[in-house]
Amino acid sequence: MKYTITTPLYYVNDKPHLGSCYTTIACDALARFQRLKGNSVLFITGVDEHGQKIERTAESKNLPPQIHCDEITEKYKYLWGKLNISYDSFVRTTSPEHTLLVNKFYSKVLESDDVYMGRQSGWYCVGCEEYKDVDDNDKHPICSIHKKELEWRDEENLFFRLSKYQEQINKLVQIDGFISPNSRKNEISNFVSKGLRDFSISRVNLRWGIKVPGNEDHTFYVWFDALLGYLSGSLIDQSLPEINENSLVNWPANIHVIGKDILRFHAVYWPAMLLSAGISPPLRVFGHGFLTREGLKMGKSLGNVLDPIELLEYGGIDAMRWYLLRDIEFGEDGDFQMKRFVDIVNSDLSNTIGNLLNRTITMSNKWFNDYIPIKNPSLNDSELKEISEKKIIEYMNSFNESNFKNAANAIIDFANSANLYLNDRAPWKLIKDISNKEEVANDIYSVLESCRLIGVLLYPLVPDLSIRILNQLNVDITSISFKNSLQWGLLNPSNGLQNPYPVMNKLEFK
Ligand code: MSP
Repeated sequence: MKYTITTPLYYVNDKPHLGSCYTTIACDALARFQRLKGNSVLFITGVDEHGQKIERTAESKNLPPQIHCDEITEKYKYLWGKLNISYDSFVRTTSPEHTLLVNKFYSKVLESDDVYMGRQSGWYCVGCEEYKDVDDNDKHPICSIHKKELEWRDEENLFFRLSKYQEQINKLVQIDGFISPNSRKNEISNFVSKGLRDFSISRVNLRWGIKVPGNEDHTFYVWFDALLGYLSGSLIDQSLPEINENSLVNWPANIHVIGKDILRFHAVYWPAMLLSAGISPPLRVFGHGFLTREGLKMGKSLGNVLDPIELLEYGGIDAMRWYLLRDIEFGEDGDFQMKRFVDIVNSDLSNTIGNLLNRTITMSNKWFNDYIPIKNPSLNDSELKEISEKKIIEYMNSFNESNFKNAANAIIDFANSANLYLNDRAPWKLIKDISNKEEVANDIYSVLESCRLIGVLLYPLVPDLSIRILNQLNVDITSISFKNSLQWGLLNPSNGLQNPYPVMNKLEFK
């Protein structure tokens, strides 16, 4: 089966922060999980480079907007490389291919008679690139997200007939699972039930954008332009004259993962735009929560961002990915706390998993000549086999619901059981009597086999650590899939073992 997943296209007004990393890491985990399930995945990410916000940022730096965009886009690509983000397609909204696609899409919307010229007046937030509903008596309204003054606008704009799609959107948002988590569905249902109003899709007095064909003094509204990036990222062949589902790799998208602040654009405006062009809406929109830092909202405009590069240098890629996916409930807001970061990473990855692997390999090497012991088939399988089967089911169910926290918990429970098993069996005592050697072989095999399974299950969450674990067990990782690696008993004793080294160094809190 095919599976398409997208991150938002990030604004290039500033370098990426931990919030942008959070969404991207989550999507990467989902993409890797789907690949291990055997699906053919299209993982799209990219940058949103047009609009007033970007134009003003470039101006403030005395840079031509394109040069500014190139610089910031490089920073995104660099960071995604450092975080081992396995994207298949990176969309830039300033690319010529994207401009072409926007024009083709616009012509479909025109054909459906969904565009008209109108006048838009109201309070605008440049940070959100959005008109805001404001109390009539408020003469100096402030954006509740960016804490900055809104700007009054009164201009001629092209409008998209969103109201025409009232019924279809209403039905769509009621579909179970279209908006996830379920707790976010109400907000959108309420918004839709109040009646959809047409929205403006062009701006005047804005140079930094794609020119509207036929109305050259207008540029496309940055959201109309950016949402279409998801189609640009799926396009099979840029030279096809028309946009339809046949010209896209696996459309509709299975899931758009976004932050809760941009849910309306994805669950209402975007599906309506697609319907207007005769293209199916996405199957699911997942709105995750916000990260705060030691209790305060983190954001570029608030200036309290945690620099992901610094965090990476300090903790490394596995620590960062593990903490974000394991400690924060995906869908809810979460607070980044440095002390907790260190404690969780040390406890889960260095102690529970790292030590388990290290001490078991050391024992195996010592007592079985650097080999994985051969298990006597006449001896019963250890209780770890049954535990592994239970934990794998828990892990799969959790991942299928994008619940990374529970998926990670299932792995840690499994590793805890393996540690307990080792402590209970105490093979270092048993081995003192040579007649116990077969039993010890059985025990060591079971724990090493558990480590192999843990290594595989870790792959979507912390791929680098997973590979280090599997390498120590000499497991071939080139063509790994859930189907060919989640059965108990696949660890091959003739693989031999590598000299153990700590797969995860401890962090020191500073
Ligand atoms: N450019 C638009 C998206 C267009 S998609 C076609 C945009 N960009 S953004 O850079 O401002 O935000 C990108 C994503 O980062 C959003 O999903 C937003 O919710 C998320 N986050 C921004 N700050 C965040 C946190 N502090 N925590 C978690 N996610 C955060 O919106």
